[in-house]
Amino acid sequence: MSFTIAIDGPAASGKGTIARALAARFGFAHLDTGLLYRAVGALGGDPILAARELTPDDLRRDDLRSAAAGQAASRVAAIPEVRSALVDFQRRFARTEPGAVLDGRDIGTVICPEAEVKLYVTASDEIRARRRALELGADEGVILTELRERDARDAARDVAPMRQADDAVLIDTSTLTIDEAVELAINLARRAG
Ligand code: C5P
Repeated sequence: MSFTIAIDGPAASGKGTIARALAARFGFAHLDTGLLYRAVGALGGDPILAARELTPDDLRRDDLRSAAAGQAASRVAAIPEVRSALVDFQRRFARTEPGAVLDGRDIGTVICPEAEVKLYVTASDEIRARRRALELGADEGVILTELRERDARDAARDVAPMRQADDAVLIDTSTLTIDEAVELAINLARRAG
């Protein structure tokens, strides 16, 4: 039986860093599910077809990390048929032995409601914007507007909106160092295991 860790939260909250650290610590596979939506958005054309025909190579494009790719991802992610086309791949990944860490927006609520560990990672808007601006070498004010717009769209959509699962543990990384946030997540996962 595999062990699944579901991590959700808004952009630049630290969920990806925590997910990678947990996967490394426990020897689990890791899937950044945002990449699936970023790839669908970046491929252009009909997003439903793109989602149905997505290949692992599509996830390796080097333009997927940009702010523009994030916005495009958020728009295609609101299309129900795009989301449903990506469900099976994510659920199969979640069953990887001996375990898997998936991070995204709807992992604990829709993709893996039975996950052994559920975390919801967040931080203040300003701190998330500062982190992302440093990472991308971009203007903090522009990034703040972009993040708020994207979060609002992700939280308001009808299908699989971004939200904390009732049984998820909240980690606010606003005042934590990366090491502290990772340590907290590892302890929570250990307790569940
Ligand atoms: O996590 P990341 O910023 O790469 O995600 C890009 C976009 O993909 C999000 O803003 C969201 O619209 C969408 N997404 C989603 N469900 C997930 C992961 C990402 O809707 N599980």
